[in-house]
Amino acid sequence: MSGPDLTEIVGTDHVLTSPDLVAAYVTDWTGRYRGDARAVVRPQTVDQVSSILHACNIAGIDVVPQGGNTGLVGGSVPAPGSGAVVLSLTRLNSMGPIDPATGQVTVGAGVTLSALHAHAHAAGWSFGVDLAARDSATIGGMVATNAGGIHVVGNGMMRKQVLGLEAVLATGEVIRSMSGLAKNNTGYDLTQLLCGSEGTLGVITEVSLQLIRPRDTELILAGCDSVAAALKIASRFAGRLAAAEIMDRSGIESVSRVIGIAVPFPTSFHVLVEVTGGVSADSLEDLEHVTLAMDARDRENYWALRERITEAMAAEGTGVSHKLDISVPLADLDTVYREITAYLDQPGVRDVVLFGHLMDGNFHVFFTTDADGSVEQALDTAVLELVAVHGGSISAEHGVGHMKADHLHLSRSAAEIASMRGIKAALDPEGILNPGVLLPK
Ligand code: FAD
Ligand code: MLT
Ligand code: ZN
Repeated sequence: MSGPDLTEIVGTDHVLTSPDLVAAYVTDWTGRYRGDARAVVRPQTVDQVSSILHACNIAGIDVVPQGGNTGLVGGSVPAPGSGAVVLSLTRLNSMGPIDPATGQVTVGAGVTLSALHAHAHAAGWSFGVDLAARDSATIGGMVATNAGGIHVVGNGMMRKQVLGLEAVLATGEVIRSMSGLAKNNTGYDLTQLLCGSEGTLGVITEVSLQLIRPRDTELILAGCDSVAAALKIASRFAGRLAAAEIMDRSGIESVSRVIGIAVPFPTSFHVLVEVTGGVSADSLEDLEHVTLAMDARDRENYWALRERITEAMAAEGTGVSHKLDISVPLADLDTVYREITAYLDQPGVRDVVLFGHLMDGNFHVFFTTDADGSVEQALDTAVLELVAVHGGSISAEHGVGHMKADHLHLSRSAAEIASMRGIKAALDPEGILNPGVLLPK
């Protein structure tokens, strides 16, 4: 293999080139994006990351940063024929002590979300972001995609938990904003700039995070027959919501079939609402279909109905399954649901399932189309254009990746895209970091 000898930096065990070892790193979680890499390189320190990037930058070799490879927009794998290096950050998995006075902790980019949750809980703290891919998703990947998950309504997205970070730029230079200072108003916020940059501006190697104190919550499962009714149920707890999720009937029926738990209510929608500060009986008395989780088993079953939809749809996939991740203003959510499900009448469309983070205005839209995939592109464009008409976003929480780069103009202005290109050119002048991701070619 021509180009720099990266084994000198990380050792032969951590430069993978044989196809069987590389395979898992070049196909994304959905299976929709498959590329190839000249090598997978697995550094263990920031100095090794710096040396690798420096060498690749000089040689003009593309680098695809990768964490848990659970991304859903094709941003974590190289394009076919790219000759890129996949830079796996999973070995940067150290976790520092939790400061008992402030609840701050510094962790390596390769630490998984579930490892961080366990670390926080052991010290009487909690981490504000949670999502179903918790056993594989890494903190570096979650910062790079500004991940959302089930607790955004209560705790905000990933960027809100980030106090500072260390990253390596394409040239190999290391930047660190880990002072721990509560206040430091000295120029552009490079930490926040890298949140959501999807591996295109720098490789995140360490992150300083703010933990939160665990709170007692009640978990309500309710049934209703419209998105507007679902919003009414959740909004009555506004200001005390830890989570508010919606599942339409076809999604929950799929989970019921695949994992064998009964569908609780005969309604078109189920709503899962997690509330702090207690739930009074009279706050639910107008609801015909409602129940409160009485124990851990109830909680596990109720969350399974929501978190296992993706898995169930994949297991039952009878055609080409394809997912969008959109958000619109809450006032438009009911209308947008009806407009999207109307596509079910289109030839070639077999199923449309919507579920997601209700009070974030965020639907995950799962289409199953005829196996030839002929309608997929047209359907994507139609739905993303519909979302744009409602002032929504073509990507609520999963990022842009390769998947939506060509639709970026539907959510960002020409001036904004030009500004993003300027920033990219300044930080990655040779354009080696994740080319084709986020910014349209
Ligand atoms: P990867 O997939 O490895 O990479 C994602 C992007 O980040 C790529 O562009 C990659 O280049 C870049 N990247 C990775 N590590 C670094 C780094 N150290 N430095 C710079 N760039 C880096 N997402 C949500 O937002 N909300 C959800 O509720 C949610 N639920 C999910 C449920 C399931 C079952 C699955 C499979 C995925 C889900 N996701 C969700 C998507 C995914 O888990 C998130 O996008 C997560 O942040 C990706 O983390 P990762 O470590 O797997 O990153
Ligand atoms: C979720 O909320 O379940 C995730 O964003 C993943 C998905 O869309 O499947
Ligand atoms: Zn989600």
